Amino acid sequence: MLFYLLRRGTFIFAFLIFVHQITASDTNYNSSFTPDHIRYLQNETQALFVHAWSSYMEYGFPADEVRPITCEPYGPDYEDINNTVRNDAMGNISSTVLDNLDTLVIMEQWDQLESMLSYLKNNQQDLFEQDTIVQVFELSIRSLGGLLSAHLLLTDITNNRKVIPPKYIRLQEISKKYDGFLLEMAYDLGLRLIPAYKTSTNIPVPRVNLAKGVRDVPPPLQRDACTSGATTPVLEFTLLSRLTGDPQFESYTQLTFWKLWTSKSTLNLLPMTLDPIANTWKDTLTGIGASIDSFYEYAAKASIIFDDKYMWSVFKTSYKALLTHSAQGGGPFEGSMIFPNVGTNDGALQTDWIDSLGAFWAGLQVLTGQVTEAIKTHMIYLKLWNYFESIPERWVYVHFNKPSKAITSNDSIALEWYPLRPEFIESTYYLYRATKDPMYLQIGERVLNLFKNKFKTTCGFNGIQDVRTGELQNRMETFVMGETLKYLYLLFDTKDEVFLHSNLMSNKNWVFSTEAHPLWFNKHISPSYREKSNKSDEVYQLKRPFFQKIMSLMNSEESLISTNDSSYFRNITLPQAADFQIPAVKNLQKRDPFVNRFEVCETNPFNKNLNSVAFLKSGFYSMDYLFSADYSYRNSLIKPDYLSETSLDNSYVELTPSFFDKFTMYAKNEGQEFFLQCPRPHTTERYELFMGDISQINQIEVSELYYNPPANSEELIIMDGDLWVPELNSLRIQFEKLRAGLVDTRNVVISHEFIETTRQDDYNGKHAISKKNEKPSKSKGHTEKDIGLVLRIAKINGVQVKPNSIIWTLPFEPHIPSPGQQSVIDIASDGRVIISGNVVENLMVWYD
Ligand SMILES: *[C@@H]1O[C@H](CO)[C@@H](O)[C@H](O)[C@H]1NC(C)=O
Ligand SMILES: *[C@@H]1O[C@H](CO)[C@@H](O)[C@H](O)[C@H]1NC(C)=O
Ligand SMILES: *[C@@H]1O[C@H](CO)[C@@H](O)[C@H](O)[C@H]1NC(C)=O
Ligand SMILES: *[C@@H]1O[C@H](CO)[C@@H](O)[C@H](O)[C@H]1NC(C)=O
Ligand SMILES: *[C@@H]1O[C@H](CO)[C@@H](O)[C@H](O)[C@H]1NC(C)=O
Ligand SMILES: *[C@@H]1O[C@H](CO)[C@@H](O)[C@H](O)[C@H]1NC(C)=O
Ligand SMILES: *[C@@H]1O[C@H](CO)[C@@H](O)[C@H](O)[C@H]1NC(C)=O
Ligand SMILES: *[C@@H]1O[C@H](CO)[C@@H](O)[C@H](O)[C@H]1NC(C)=O
Repeated sequence: MLFYLLRRGTFIFAFLIFVHQITASDTNYNSSFTPDHIRYLQNETQALFVHAWSSYMEYGFPADEVRPITCEPYGPDYEDINNTVRNDAMGNISSTVLDNLDTLVIMEQWDQLESMLSYLKNNQQDLFEQDTIVQVFELSIRSLGGLLSAHLLLTDITNNRKVIPPKYIRLQEISKKYDGFLLEMAYDLGLRLIPAYKTSTNIPVPRVNLAKGVRDVPPPLQRDACTSGATTPVLEFTLLSRLTGDPQFESYTQLTFWKLWTSKSTLNLLPMTLDPIANTWKDTLTGIGASIDSFYEYAAKASIIFDDKYMWSVFKTSYKALLTHSAQGGGPFEGSMIFPNVGTNDGALQTDWIDSLGAFWAGLQVLTGQVTEAIKTHMIYLKLWNYFESIPERWVYVHFNKPSKAITSNDSIALEWYPLRPEFIESTYYLYRATKDPMYLQIGERVLNLFKNKFKTTCGFNGIQDVRTGELQNRMETFVMGETLKYLYLLFDTKDEVFLHSNLMSNKNWVFSTEAHPLWFNKHISPSYREKSNKSDEVYQLKRPFFQKIMSLMNSEESLISTNDSSYFRNITLPQAADFQIPAVKNLQKRDPFVNRFEVCETNPFNKNLNSVAFLKSGFYSMDYLFSADYSYRNSLIKPDYLSETSLDNSYVELTPSFFDKFTMYAKNEGQEFFLQCPRPHTTERYELFMGDISQINQIEVSELYYNPPANSEELIIMDGDLWVPELNSLRIQFEKLRAGLVDTRNVVISHEFIETTRQDDYNGKHAISKKNEKPSKSKGHTEKDIGLVLRIAKINGVQVKPNSIIWTLPFEPHIPSPGQQSVIDIASDGRVIISGNVVENLMVWYD
């Protein structure tokens, strides 16, 4: 078993027996990540970009894309308007160019940039005059965002600067000649897209015909709207309004955004699909993947660009709701964290799969200061990359009702394609910037090598059509250059030489758009905006009727979109809480665990674990739970047959021998040199319990306690990090089931003594009611009292319970069950709470 007590010797041995196939160039550097090596990686990435771009110019341009295997131009399917997979992001508008103007700047392709600018200038009048049906969302993020970004780059980077790095002299020259026509083109495109928002419901239809308008789109193509699609344009469109002075883009998209937000469920979750004409949600499902991903992303990013506290509160509220209802794993002793789909009304788990698109989440977690959680979210996608050399569009992480021996690699791949999506490398880039851990460079090098050896083809890069068989895809979407290669290149910019990382960007609230376009806003770049108001943004907004409407939406209580769902909650019978006050102890204080986490920006969590004698080291290896995901998801991480033959050096990224040899050279545990330890995988089970009415969960207080005892004071039983839950109602609790002989999540073998001492005070004989309850009930679903079991709360309403912390609650009247009732709550003589006849180790009643 590879998961515990891996001494370095045996570890290396296990992985060196494979035959290596490292390419010649890599062995010159062998994971050293010296400045030379990194320069080499950057050059290689740039060369890949040049390969893709020049192929496009030769065989694709001026079409939207080039087909990488057959070297043909690729554009809309004029035969079949129903072919939305192909048509949504293609308008016969040279999409690859629009999506990559800023990539040309980042890759320093000045001649190409000049030539593309003059091409666009010459075609400015009729580029968008195309009889094609496109998706508003796709054109907003790819084309509109691309134009706005390029406009900002050419007007607000080198202008008015006396001192600029020599490599940006060309950019300065090009900028001097630039007359602002890209903003005019953005305005033209905006005017063609905005009619989609002018519906009676204020929910946009998803598609427009660029030349003929929204009425020319057949109604069947207008029904499948999603939350991302409707809300995401708010960022690019608001920027377009601020830059042009025409308020309609901002007004309409903000109205939609706030209308949807006010229609969230009582759990603060938004469904993923809607019908813009019927004004209804079409499902009661949510998560972080396809159809909703960029909603959260843009709440956070719009709050940064526009300094908008309302948007920030949408992100915080959503993040808390997702931690409470969707997040699996990620506790103090877990190496990975996933966010599967849950019901918006009951929070119950709905799917056994997660999306490839969800890989962006770790990057967003870094941006919003949640670095430890980002490392854990990213981990699972790293494991996927290890096993599939790609990330299947939809991966089944758990197999219900199937014996594990019968599970094959195919069973875990629910959607089988990988179109070279950027999200994994994007998050790797954010994590490197936040931690500077060389592991993230190693990941980048391995991705780079796959691009060189597996995805590169005659005219660009092919995606994978079928991860199960290795079948290739003859398509290179515009984001391959615009995002995947861009983030890879920026990852290797460890010396901050690219302007985005330099002081050319200082004093700008810039973010990458969801399509990796750098965007920012400040008033001085917008003459028209400045003319309109000398006042603050907020005053400017409030004066306008649209914003008055938005403000009233934000304050409204009712849902503005109907939902047909009949919600269901799993209730257990509740005690009546006696009182709702915190114990009156001097210097005992409470804080909201969620508010607290957004007030501090988490610094590199790896540093905490590294000791000072370390020389070359990767903090990544200081995580004890590095391999826990391999174990937890062992039934879903199975390599397809064809891959074992072709993987680059037959090792997983974090076990690449040359990297492992260099970056684990640190001593741990005095005297134990070169010692790595992985904990035993836990063998305890977990389950979740919903107590009371879950729809009221946001009304329930869960506070963190902290205590500064005055001198000479009595010892208080409460400790820092304990939790305070005054009422046992509307709780979502994750329990760990402790039994003698099992290994718990803290890597402790549970002893008989522990079980006996913890249970000795349970209510056997203490209360009469327990006797009644001992008779086995025939009703299905009844939770039996279980003599050998102790429960421990791992998570309560989204808050991870720290090791050795206690959750305190107020005394309550023990509940006496009547026949047919499901459950009972009682108090043991030592103050611990008993649920369904089982003592909860860390839930105690506070007696003042
Ligand atoms: C890199 O490692 C390979 C295999 O261990 C070795 O043959 C090669 O000499 C090394 N290269 C350098 C520059 O150290
Ligand atoms: C990277 O490219 C630059 C210019 O293209 C070249 O001068 C340099 O030697 C290259 N460095 C490496 C390590 O390949
Ligand atoms: C597109 O689908 C609609 C039904 O949704 C159908 O009536 C129409 O004929 C289809 N068009 C083509 C070109 O296949
Ligand atoms: C695509 O756009 C070009 C102009 O950029 C135009 O000449 C061509 O006719 C368009 N293709 C179709 C099928 O409309
Ligand atoms: C909602 O329910 C109404 C009536 O029960 C029905 O006509 C409508 O189609 C339903 N809408 C959705 C989106 O299911
Ligand atoms: C997995 O799926 C692929 C594609 O359908 C198929 O060719 C292959 O035989 C399957 N492998 C197994 C082991 O079922
Ligand atoms: C804004 O301020 C400038 C200078 O202070 C002034 O010239 C201009 O008239 C003001 N504009 C408005 C709309 O108040
Ligand atoms: C769950 O309990 C709450 C109050 O405790 C009650 O209002 C609600 O109707 C119950 N739900 C179900 C489905 O029994």
